Amino acid sequence: MHVAFIMDGNGRWAQAHGLPRHEGHRRGASVIKKVLRVAEKSGIKYVTFFAFSSENFSRPESEVNFLMNLFEKFLKKYGKTLCEREVHFRAIGNLSQLPLNLQLAIEKLAQSTAHFDKFHLTVALNYGARSEVIQATGNLLKNKDVDVENLTWEDFEQYLYTKDLPDPDLIIRTSGEQRLSNFLLLKSAYAELYFTKTYWPDFNEEEFLLAIEDYGARERRMGKINDKTNN
Ligand code: IPE
Ligand code: IPE
Ligand code: MG
Repeated sequence: MHVAFIMDGNGRWAQAHGLPRHEGHRRGASVIKKVLRVAEKSGIKYVTFFAFSSENFSRPESEVNFLMNLFEKFLKKYGKTLCEREVHFRAIGNLSQLPLNLQLAIEKLAQSTAHFDKFHLTVALNYGARSEVIQATGNLLKNKDVDVENLTWEDFEQYLYTKDLPDPDLIIRTSGEQRLSNFLLLKSAYAELYFTKTYWPDFNEEEFLLAIEDYGARERRMGKINDKTNN
């Protein structure tokens, strides 16, 4: 099972507590650890976090810089634990536009955990699904061996950042917004969506278990007729 999170509401959480926005981001980062523990315990093998969208680069420079530093610190702080827990780490997005130090930290952790298959943690950084598709199409067309006439989704998918990941089964978005904000648009074609009003810094084990329970009660037909209910 693959669960993806749109971690939203850090700024509003901070505002509600009379704190600067970056305190919301700091507290938000600490939620990731709790979520990973629940996922591991629940037998979920793939977890993806939307940490920074391509569009987030248009925020004030001070906020962008704070977030980039936070991501780097996070990777350095938890890198060892992730290796010990046999977590395969990946980052998806246009990574070449990220600060060099962050790119290096990502590359180091991704390389040193690439052989693990027990659990898969993916972080979307400078990610936007539309530019992912444009880039994928460009790369596909550059490959002269591609048979464009008989192209399948499986062929196309190999050009996406997410090529080694299964489709997300469940996407959870916090903060009350009910939209995807350019996250995994094609990959989530049949994902179940779960929205909660809780701001990301307040998201916790109980909320996650509630979302998993809600997902468990859903019927995923994927275009087919359900034999049990229609007989
Ligand atoms: C999500 O929280 C974190 C990022 C987008 C980096 P926001 O920063 O979007 O928080 P709100 O939506 O302003 O409350
Ligand atoms: C989506 O949140 C991106 C992340 C959670 C990283 P935003 O706060 O950027 O989304 P919008 O602007 O409300 O759609
Ligand atoms: Mg937001």
